[in-house]
Amino acid sequence: MGNNMITIHADMTKGTINRNIYSHFAEHLGRCIYEGIWVGEDSPIPNTNGIRNDVLEALKGLRIPVLRWPGGCFADDYHWMDGIGPRENRPRMINNHWGGVIENNHFGTHEFLMLCELLDCEPYIAGNVGSGTVKEMKDWVEYMTFAGESPMADLRRRNGREEPWKLPYFGVGNENWGCGGNMRPEYYSDLYRQYQSYVRNFDGNRVYKIACGASDYNVQWTEVMMKESGRFMDGLSLHYYVVPGTWGDKGSATDFTDREWFVTLQKALKMDEIIAMHATVMDRYDPEKRVGLIVDEWGTWFNVEPGTNPGFLYQQNTQRDALVASTTLDIFHQHCDRVQMANIAQTVNVLQAMILTEGDKMVLTPTYHVFDMYKVHQGASLLDMRVQSESYEMDGEAIPQISATASKQSDGTIHIGISNLSHSSEAVIPIELRGLLSFGAVSGKILTTSAPNAHNTFDQPNAVAPQPYYGFQTAEGKLTATLPPMSVVVLEVKA
Ligand code: AHR
Repeated sequence: MGNNMITIHADMTKGTINRNIYSHFAEHLGRCIYEGIWVGEDSPIPNTNGIRNDVLEALKGLRIPVLRWPGGCFADDYHWMDGIGPRENRPRMINNHWGGVIENNHFGTHEFLMLCELLDCEPYIAGNVGSGTVKEMKDWVEYMTFAGESPMADLRRRNGREEPWKLPYFGVGNENWGCGGNMRPEYYSDLYRQYQSYVRNFDGNRVYKIACGASDYNVQWTEVMMKESGRFMDGLSLHYYVVPGTWGDKGSATDFTDREWFVTLQKALKMDEIIAMHATVMDRYDPEKRVGLIVDEWGTWFNVEPGTNPGFLYQQNTQRDALVASTTLDIFHQHCDRVQMANIAQTVNVLQAMILTEGDKMVLTPTYHVFDMYKVHQGASLLDMRVQSESYEMDGEAIPQISATASKQSDGTIHIGISNLSHSSEAVIPIELRGLLSFGAVSGKILTTSAPNAHNTFDQPNAVAPQPYYGFQTAEGKLTATLPPMSVVVLEVKA
């Protein structure tokens, strides 16, 4: 037996895991929206008003809380009026950021909000600051949310939607330090104050306004934003991608060494210190933690699959991605006092996707399965927990071998998510449940593989899929779980 040990205080909660941490991001990028989600009403692929049924049903299974759209970098190039009205009349545009392909604007505001209704999730729309006007942003919000008579509300009605929609989340720009205008924080901060003034609350709709935040370790951006504009925002975003190599050569999604496995997870764990650094700055200006840290882009970013358009960011998804997902979700949970939402990039066919499609075929990725297994934590109480982990070492560097989360639902059921990051060693983990006189039935699910690069293909869609987990023992009120290398387990402990 090694030195792994998890101690859970079942009677001590540290807060609520905001279910919005399990949110997603879908951009007009490559085959995410077009082909991945939208196939059009005339497609031979079975669809509901143009949205493919297979993807819709799979996404429903994840209970997605919030979906962010239309970008990403695309957001600051997008003019929403191009995406309303009869589709055949909508202007075409160049998708400058993503492959220079022609965007026909067939998926616009009505289609996105219909998708959210079908998924029973809340919309989060990113507005255009980089190349859009204040009026354009003001009109968009009025178009979507104003119930009375106004030029924009009347236009919406003429386009077939009588009732306004609810718009709970609105982002004022995206990566305005980069693709969204290459601005200095001081300049963006002023623009943010101006643009957000016209993001109005109509008819009981209350918009949670999200300012463009930093990426990675850029705390200077956070400092300026909190100091100058903190009082005008509800949320401040943060982007962090896990790139095992360099931006020029990120590494293959499937053809990687043990060292790359290790480095990928090492970089995924950096999310903890990155959040902590931004949260420390936010605490100085907002000690009550009113402003949420919104990690609205995160995930793995590898070289595109050989032979695919470099601008489409299409990558496979292996058990390594599954471990990145589970450990990152564990980190978000621990920061549930500040992290109010997170949106993995991106839902279908782009970066660390839930789903890959090819024509009428669809495959669920290992990352999908982690989100599915972990959804029991959505909205649950985070339990106080101590994780004592063995070191997982490579080339003189070390990271913890295990990562975990324990949460409790209102009926007393406890879920313990545990990941074994090691590519080669099993983990034997005694789990002590303190604060409980006894517990009921225990069951579990496991996602594991024998090869680090195992993944699902259209020919073998279930190569990596959750299985019932029997690798635990209970004796004298104690629980011991044995996790094979490269595995994610969720245990359910009934009250
Ligand atoms: O998710 C892909 C891109 O990454 C987004 O468009 C942009 O915001 C980020 O740089």
